[in-house]
Order: sequence, then C-alpha cells, then structure tokens
Amino acid sequence: MKKLFVHHKDPLVLEALLPQLMPANFSYAYGRYLGDYESYHLILIDDECYQELTYEVKRCSKIIAKHGREAFDSEYFDLEDTLIDYSSSGAAMSVLGQGQMKPLRLDFEQFAYRQRLLRGGRQKESVARAVLSGISDGDLIFDATAGLGRESMILAHAGARVISFERQIPIWLILYDALERASSSRFFPFTLPQLCPVGTIANYQQALDNNSPSRAWSYLLGKLQGARPEVIYYDPMFPEREKSAQVKKDMFLFQQVIGADLDTQEFLACACQLALQRVVVKRPSNAEVVSVPGIERSYCVDGGQCRFDCYQCS
Ligand SMILES: C[S@@+](CC[C@H](N)C(=O)[O-])C[C@H]1O[C@@H](n2cnc3c(N)ncnc32)[C@H](O)[C@@H]1O
Repeated sequence: MKKLFVHHKDPLVLEALLPQLMPANFSYAYGRYLGDYESYHLILIDDECYQELTYEVKRCSKIIAKHGREAFDSEYFDLEDTLIDYSSSGAAMSVLGQGQMKPLRLDFEQFAYRQRLLRGGRQKESVARAVLSGISDGDLIFDATAGLGRESMILAHAGARVISFERQIPIWLILYDALERASSSRFFPFTLPQLCPVGTIANYQQALDNNSPSRAWSYLLGKLQGARPEVIYYDPMFPEREKSAQVKKDMFLFQQVIGADLDTQEFLACACQLALQRVVVKRPSNAEVVSVPGIERSYCVDGGQCRFDCYQCS
C-alpha cells in the first residue's frame, strides 16, 4: 500500500476512526504539529514497521510546521502517497505531487445527486431493479463494494436495509465522512447505509467461522446478530474500465488510489455462499461474464452501458 496521511485539527476525531480501521492490516504512527494558529494532527498509515513510520511522521510534522499545509505539495513528501485532509467542508482525498488535480470530495447533498435519488427508485434505477426484485422493504442487502457510496444510497433510498463494505482505507475515510454529514442532513429522511469497519465480507465470514473476531468485527456481528443478507451487490474495479476516456476524466484519482480489483472470482465464490437469494455483479455491457466452476449466471438486467449479472444462490 502507498503511504496514507490523514490530517485533522481534532485528535479525538482521528482516535475515534482508528478502531474502525483495525481489520485492515497496517501500522500507523501518530504525530502533532503546530500550524500558524492552532495545532494539527497527522496519522501516517502504511504497512511499513512502526519505527520507520514514527520517524517519518516526526520528519513530516516538522516540515509542515515550518512550511504550512502547502508542504504536502512539495518534494519533501513521496509523490503518489495519498492524503486525506479534513476541512469544514469535509474530507478530501488527493494524491501527493498532483497539485493540478482537484481533490476528491464526496457530498451527497449536491443537487445533481439528490435529483438522481428523487427521480430514481425501484423501477427506474437498473441497479435497484437487479438487486431489489423480489425483496421486501427492510430486507438486508450487503453492498460488498461501497466505493463512493452512490449505489448504496440508491438502494437505501429505495427501501432496503443496506450494509456497505469498503476495503481501501482512503476511500473508506471519505465515504465515512460523507455519510456522517448526510446523517444530519434534512435531504435524506431514510435509513442511510451502514458502513462497516474497513474490510470485505470475506473478513466478516471468517469472523463468523472462527468465532474469534477482532473488536471491530465483533461490533459488526453484534449489530447483525449473525444475519445473512438476502442479496449481495458486487461492483469491483475491472481493469478494462481504465480505458474509457470518461472514466479517466471523472475518476482518475479514484482509479489511481485503488487500481484494479484482481480477486473477483474468489470473491464471487465467497459471496455466493453467504447470500440467501442472489449475488448481483455489475459489469461493463460488453465484458465477459465472471465465471467460477460450479457457479453460473442465472440471468442479467440491462443497465445501458453496464449490465447486472445475477447469480441465484441455493
Ligand atoms: C467500482 S467501485 C464501486 C462503486 C460503487 N458501486 C459506487 O456506487 O460508488 C469498487 C470499490 O469496491 C472496493 N472493493 C473491491 N473489492 C472489494 C471487496 N472484496 N471488499 C470490499 N471492497 C471492495 C474497491 O476498493 C472500490 O472502492
């Protein structure tokens, strides 16, 4: 993993986030520095050893204290590391050394986004048609690949009880922050998706099987009381998506931080064991069907430029 810097004024916010990041396998070091008027706090997350991170966080804190917030865009930091920076308008994600790129921020209150929710619904949104057909309001749906949370929100708005998973820490952090802000917004009078601690449903299933979950997972299992979802929705990053010009323009940062997900077959096999009714896999319309020995696509729902492959589970 590339190094991730998380930068916030309030140490309590950073400390509250850490237990939710625990299922991911990483080390972190924590530092504090004084800006012009107030103190700032920095967590550095990586899979390097703790001593090296501690040294690095001290070095970086000194540099930022001397040069201010702009230091992140200087040669003192490794290019391509990721930064999550919190301001009054929420968390923003950027890749260091790419000052010309606008940081990625999530804001569900944006007009276009709210319009899409209002215009959508069970019949108009193809993801809702694929995932929610035959499902009653309040039934449990796992969105295994929350990403920027757009489809989790569509499904929750259409009446499902949605539990979302995301395994990339930077993406998880901006989504968590956007959902927190949405939870106090008057625009979303429905039960919002519940974002699990960082990780995948495979971690969740392991926790069930081993009966020895870590703290974060036991919290999740307690909430679910061992419940299995009716449907698992799976929308991984496929390598071929990178070629689209539109994706390059809108999602460049997102793709840079995540890359392609290369475990789709293993994941599909795991999801099919957990879902009660079906697993729905989103694919570009011209892409091959994901195939796993013994697991066959049952039918598909057309979504225009994409399609939703449905695998019925016994
Ligand atoms: C294409 S994006 C999903 C976009 C999402 N449907 C939305 O509406 O914004 C794929 C996301 O799934 C995450 N992901 C892929 N495989 C995963 C897995 N097995 N468990 C958890 N997250 C996963 C990736 O990190 C990435 O953020």
